Amino acid sequence: MKRVRTGILISGRGTNMSALIDAAKRSDFPAEIVVVISNIAEAGGLARAAEAGIPTLTLSHRDFSTREAFEAAMDRALRAARVELVCLAGFMRVLTPGFIAQWKGRLLNIHPSLLPAFRGLHTHEQALAAGAKHHGCTVHHVVPELDAGPVIAQASVPVLAGDTPDSLAARVLAEEVKLYPVALANIAKSLRPL
Ligand code: GAR
Repeated sequence: MKRVRTGILISGRGTNMSALIDAAKRSDFPAEIVVVISNIAEAGGLARAAEAGIPTLTLSHRDFSTREAFEAAMDRALRAARVELVCLAGFMRVLTPGFIAQWKGRLLNIHPSLLPAFRGLHTHEQALAAGAKHHGCTVHHVVPELDAGPVIAQASVPVLAGDTPDSLAARVLAEEVKLYPVALANIAKSLRPL
């Protein structure tokens, strides 16, 4: 089986990234993780990826004078690794329409809410403030409008009495790490080679 060469972009601790790496350890998983790129040098996920034997790279957005120059460097690194599919996993930079167009249909994100509810940041605070009874996570295609791309898969959790943003985040994250590998596998299976 030809596996889809997949790159992961992170900014933080990399829980979702680790879930994708673990799933892709199986030789029958339709994607293989070939590079992890972080825009934050101190991101905990970099060490976790390196431990798993995945090549890593830091490209700090602060080292580039424009968003476009930063993204061009990411694009070059992804192409150099012959990446065919990109997964955002806690990558906290907004991408320009130009970069998104380059990776049309090949750029996935996981977002910690049941989109279209609660786009943007602080989704668990937003869900609690809105009195939501259900919350969850969404894997979606990335389009220029933030957190608005076609939904690939969702998982929901109950909001419980006494929940705090942290308790809710933990319940959602437990679903994220199950959902993202399934969604990646489904997309990878249907992708034609680059
Ligand atoms: C995850 O909850 C992910 O859904 C969220 O950041 C967290 C990253 O954690 N992503 C976003 O909010 C994207 N806008 P992780 O690095 O431990 O996977």
